[in-house]
Amino acid sequence: MERAILYFPDFFTGKTLFPWSELLAEQFPIRRAHINDIGAIYEVIRENPMEVLPRSYQDILRNFDRFVVYDDGDIKGVISFQVMPVFDIDNPDFAVEIVSFSVRRIFQGKGIGKALLAHMVDMVSEMEPHRIIVLTFYPDFFRKHGFTETSKEKLYQKIYQGCLNCTKYRSPLTCPEVAMEMVLRR
Ligand SMILES: CC(C)(COP(=O)(O)OP(=O)(O)OC[C@H]1O[C@@H](n2cnc3c(N)ncnc32)[C@H](O)[C@@H]1OP(=O)(O)O)[C@@H](O)C(=O)NCCC(=O)NCCS
Repeated sequence: MERAILYFPDFFTGKTLFPWSELLAEQFPIRRAHINDIGAIYEVIRENPMEVLPRSYQDILRNFDRFVVYDDGDIKGVISFQVMPVFDIDNPDFAVEIVSFSVRRIFQGKGIGKALLAHMVDMVSEMEPHRIIVLTFYPDFFRKHGFTETSKEKLYQKIYQGCLNCTKYRSPLTCPEVAMEMVLRR
């Protein structure tokens, strides 16, 4: 099983001998969400309504343990995941989707998103899914972090879950979000 650390080498030594998230944890105030972070998570998601699907307070509460936050005294960024359904139980394709990835506007472009994504990829990789997927308006950001473009048709699982509740586009296939994946095992 390839681990995500293979995609995130240590830039100083070029080695990939320890989990990237451990390095990040030392350098960045990133941690699992606490139950009393829910209000802050709710607000950070709401700051980017064009790109991030809004989530209700109750939805975040039910899933707070899937969130990782950047907290240096204030929560400036959040990221989460959800597990995609499996349709062929005898030949399962386990996919985990990055969701609710949002950095407060005035703090964007300062490395918070990069650190949160690396931490989440490392965390999800330990669950040993076949792939990590994301739907995004910023494919270049994810490309830099080991994701490659894939077809939306391949992500019908996602389309049925998230896109059904989106009111922005009539068809998920006309939505400009780009489908991306990081394949961890086949
Ligand atoms: C996408 C997002 C999570 C990235 O977080 P971020 O903290 O802004 O990203 P980083 O600072 O780690 O920047 C990563 C790269 O993008 C560039 N970048 C991102 N936002 C930028 C901005 N507002 N201004 C300038 N550069 C920016 C950085 O220069 C950096 O490039 P580099 O790797 O060559 O240095 C954040 O911009 C955001 O919340 N966007 C709105 C919501 C969204 O689109 N979420 C993703 C849904 S899939």
